[in-house]
Amino acid sequence: MSNFPSEEPVLVTCGLPYANGKCHIGHLRTYVPADIFIRALRKQGQEAVFVCGSDAHGTPIVVNAEEQGTTPKELVNKYHLHFEKIFKAMEVEFSIFGNTDSTTNHARTNSIVEALIDAGYVYPQVIRLAYCPKDKRFLPDRYVEGICPYCGAVARGDECDQGCGKHLEPGEIKNAKCRICGNPAEYREQEHFFFRLSAFGGFLSEYLDTLGGTSNAINYAKEWAKELKDWCITRNLEWGVRFPGHDDLVVYVWVDAPIGYISFTEEWANKTGNDWEKYWRQKARVIHFIGEDITYHHCIFWPAMLKGAGYTQPWAVVASGMLKIDDRKFSKSRGYVVWVDEDYLDHGFHPDLLRYYIANYTSHTKELNFSWKVFQDKVNNELVGALGNFLHRTLHFAHKNFGAIPEGEVDRDIFEKISSTINTVISAFDEYEFKKATDAMMELAQYGNAYFQSHEPWQLVKNDVKSCERVVKNCLQISKALILLFEPVLPGNMEKAWKQLSLPGDVHTARFEDALVEIPSAKLEAPSILFTKLEDKKIKEMEAILDRRIKIAIAKEKNKLEAGTEKAEITFEEFQKMDIRIGTVLAAENIKGSDKLLKLEVDIGEKRQIVAGIAKSHSPSELVGKQVAVLANMKPAKLFGVESRGMVLAADVEGAVLLMPEKKVREGTKVR
Ligand code: 2FM
Ligand code: ZN
Repeated sequence: MSNFPSEEPVLVTCGLPYANGKCHIGHLRTYVPADIFIRALRKQGQEAVFVCGSDAHGTPIVVNAEEQGTTPKELVNKYHLHFEKIFKAMEVEFSIFGNTDSTTNHARTNSIVEALIDAGYVYPQVIRLAYCPKDKRFLPDRYVEGICPYCGAVARGDECDQGCGKHLEPGEIKNAKCRICGNPAEYREQEHFFFRLSAFGGFLSEYLDTLGGTSNAINYAKEWAKELKDWCITRNLEWGVRFPGHDDLVVYVWVDAPIGYISFTEEWANKTGNDWEKYWRQKARVIHFIGEDITYHHCIFWPAMLKGAGYTQPWAVVASGMLKIDDRKFSKSRGYVVWVDEDYLDHGFHPDLLRYYIANYTSHTKELNFSWKVFQDKVNNELVGALGNFLHRTLHFAHKNFGAIPEGEVDRDIFEKISSTINTVISAFDEYEFKKATDAMMELAQYGNAYFQSHEPWQLVKNDVKSCERVVKNCLQISKALILLFEPVLPGNMEKAWKQLSLPGDVHTARFEDALVEIPSAKLEAPSILFTKLEDKKIKEMEAILDRRIKIAIAKEKNKLEAGTEKAEITFEEFQKMDIRIGTVLAAENIKGSDKLLKLEVDIGEKRQIVAGIAKSHSPSELVGKQVAVLANMKPAKLFGVESRGMVLAADVEGAVLLMPEKKVREGTKVR
């Protein structure tokens, strides 16, 4: 028995992206499967609302806006529009994409916090907080940097994001420094407000036994529920939702962000004439799709808040595993990132290809590795080689030989095969197993290919047209089933294929069960190819872009480190001890056994043999005749057995960049 359709109203949400940076594949790891899931629900006759929006508050946004010389509001608006555009382009179709800074969310947050206060779940407490005496302000979350009290890693703000991953309460970070001026922070006392999470232990342990979703979320949450600490839910900030009755405080971003799920439902309901309370005040199935790093917030904090304020708690929490790029941990600062616009869509890749990769690479709860090579293999072998090939050869053959979908019946065993595939796909979706679902779909495409191949319709058409028509009709029925099954994953291409099959109605609203309705006879147009092979050249180009980004990130990191190690001051006399001269390269050659070093002969007013570590960035032939700057009184040394008398000066970045005079000067000219 499948979970859907259900009598209870269904609402699917996606973790709200911080409106603080561009969309990358890591984001899509959650949004694409959620979109596939909701499309699959509709294909089972389940009405469902799909809610998401920008997470507008929190200190990272304030810090970033300050750094970029803009306001948090402007920064949020910019990225809000960016995400909206990307989701549209990736065919992720939310019923509403809201913004947690909306008046609805301010009002709903106020009302929920007040309900929690009235119920006695919020209490004041004086705590010690990091304070910067120079900037004369308290330092909430990202404004403070120091050492994690649990694991000793460098930690910023409210989370030990480079160490143990623990949530850090205000005042917990050790050796706190101010992020604005870099000076050590002091600790000062101030009254803040706490949510009495510890009162929800009994509720949570029972609730988590009934919560659906993926085991990676539920199992962790069950452990955490055994030991609950109250949460400080106020911050000293201007930007955010005011804490009722305290003009100097806003609520912690993790209070008003999930409340966004409710406010966006309200906004959607007001626009469409629906009732939001159906989802949040009565029995309903609220399904949260999140990244597994925010499980605590969704399985512990959020249900407790909802329970305390009298709202419906989530029915399921579906947590996706993390993302790797080329088998390395995803990291924007280290360059291991694939941006959805500039690295994917702007290169003309169809959204469906990446949607398939994300759904099919691995189980939803495991780590997903993205590599351009695997992307190419999956597209070429599976989408082109199996699915595209079957649809095209069937349609092409039918059009060429009959110009139409033949009359006549579809074999019973073909319907049986389709029916069992639908069952496998639906039960895989019920378990949030997108890989299992898409594997079953692809297996039907392989079955179709094998059927076509073994029945040799190209022979039958010559001497047994009736049998040929039957084989073609069976293949067309399989095609119809494939299009319906794959629509949630490949909505753009399946819409095209639906039209190529001359099928009536809209593929997006048709049901899985329609795959068991015999395909009606109709005229066929000549089909066009749906999926084309990705060429090696394009993949190499994409790999080079990623490579370059990683190299730049390494060089930046190196420069940052070196800029941080300031050298002691020297006098002009001391500087004059260096004999720097301009010279012309007379000859250059590689040094045997070394891929880094070149032997140069340089005229610096006298001939000098100099060994330079520039072989990776410069070929000998391009150097001859060029002028370079040379430290002439560098102590002589032997490198790979070759004497070097002098040093060629270069900017120290990945691949040396040589210093050269603005115009040609006499050999031996001094540099001052
Ligand atoms: O971790 C994040 O990216 C948060 N912006 C997710 C918020 S989800 C929800 F609770 F609002
Ligand atoms: Zn830690």
